[in-house]
Amino acid sequence: MSASHPIPVPVVARPSSALKGRVRVPGDKSISHRALLFGLLAIGETRVTGLLEGEDVLRTADAVRALGGVATRVGEGDWRVIGVGVGGLQEPASVLDFGNAGTGSRLTMGVVAGHPITATFDGDASLRKRPMRRIVDPLIKMGAEVISEEAGGRLPMTIRGPREAVPIVYETPVPSAQIKSAVLLAGLNAPGKTTVIENEASRDHTERLLRHFGAEVLVESHGPYGRRITLTGQPELKASDIVVPADPSSAAFPLVAALLVPGSEIVLESVMTNPLRTGLFTTLREMGADIEELNPREEGGETIADLRVRAGALKGVDVPAERAPSMIDEYPILAVAAAFAAGETRMRGLHELRVKESDRLQAVADGLVAAGVAVRIEGDDLIVTGQNGIVRGGGEAATYLDHRIAMAFLVLGLAAREGMRVDDGAMIATSFPSFIPLMRGLGGDVVEER
Ligand code: S3P
Repeated sequence: MSASHPIPVPVVARPSSALKGRVRVPGDKSISHRALLFGLLAIGETRVTGLLEGEDVLRTADAVRALGGVATRVGEGDWRVIGVGVGGLQEPASVLDFGNAGTGSRLTMGVVAGHPITATFDGDASLRKRPMRRIVDPLIKMGAEVISEEAGGRLPMTIRGPREAVPIVYETPVPSAQIKSAVLLAGLNAPGKTTVIENEASRDHTERLLRHFGAEVLVESHGPYGRRITLTGQPELKASDIVVPADPSSAAFPLVAALLVPGSEIVLESVMTNPLRTGLFTTLREMGADIEELNPREEGGETIADLRVRAGALKGVDVPAERAPSMIDEYPILAVAAAFAAGETRMRGLHELRVKESDRLQAVADGLVAAGVAVRIEGDDLIVTGQNGIVRGGGEAATYLDHRIAMAFLVLGLAAREGMRVDDGAMIATSFPSFIPLMRGLGGDVVEER
């Protein structure tokens, strides 16, 4: 099924008995997109293991091919990319269609903007609504031109890169790894130093991979929460092997399910524990969750651990705004956990949730209301009134082409008295294609209504 033309597939989750088992969720989405793009920009063959084979990442693989690289699947999660080197991209012959993928499209815009080529970017109905000006504004400062765009800086958009990109110093207007990465990727083909300043640190996979591939990157702290990242342009990136760890943003769904379904005990294997991604685990522990990190170790330049999760009572907490960048994709599932907690949970500073795959602030609030949970939005804060372990459920959550909204409300359904239905689970395949079988394997009663 194409992410651009989905046929809605309603899915139902029903109250389940204790979840048990050991599972490994698929590879990290952020690293998977980057692995393919770095493979394209390096000279030689990059071997990637554990690649997430979700629809979003497969769109990036198509873009890599369109830009002159070779991306070949040699086994499950096992890929080879032959790159063209920084400066060696070919102009794509047709539109780059990224489906639902914000990360794939925005990072590729950075790659294109560093090269003297023209490319048109497009996506599905969700991606066409998302703001792209935040990405192209700094790229224009680097010499790129927007040839055409939809009103409000939306896709479809055609971008032409300059003959020679200009290195800049850029302070991101919001903490966003996508903006930071687009500028750094364009800066790869600029002579001299490109600097990105962020006032709150966002995920640092691009910086880590730049170093892994041989680029010179200086990371300094900037204020209490921020960073200043400086890249020396025009390095020769050397093809390097990448092991993609299990995605903490996907692990979040079975993890919260195991906390909420009484009697559960599961182990999630090899989950990435990069501190810029684990704000959810910190928050859940503050709520009283029993999450144990077993066998902490390093793999492919990232820290990983097996997570043992046991069900138990949760209490409401106040989640500070400065934690948002480290758990930006986890608020839908945190809101579900908060619905089962005792007392109120206030999640602060969530303005960025308005511009994700859907308006997640509204989608979460609406879904919780449909499940019988009291919730309110105050400015950029989401406040959920915990139901002390007993959530009615029984309603239908509208998912607005958003995979994480679908998975969050299915997790709610496993622990709610009357279960929960989501109007469309088709988009789950963008990030976690094995979600339903994996949850069923743990004992969760989740079924597609075809
Ligand atoms: C991502 C960055 C985040 C996140 C997205 C993946 C990345 O977006 O929501 O799912 O891989 O760089 P923003 O940079 O817009 O916050």
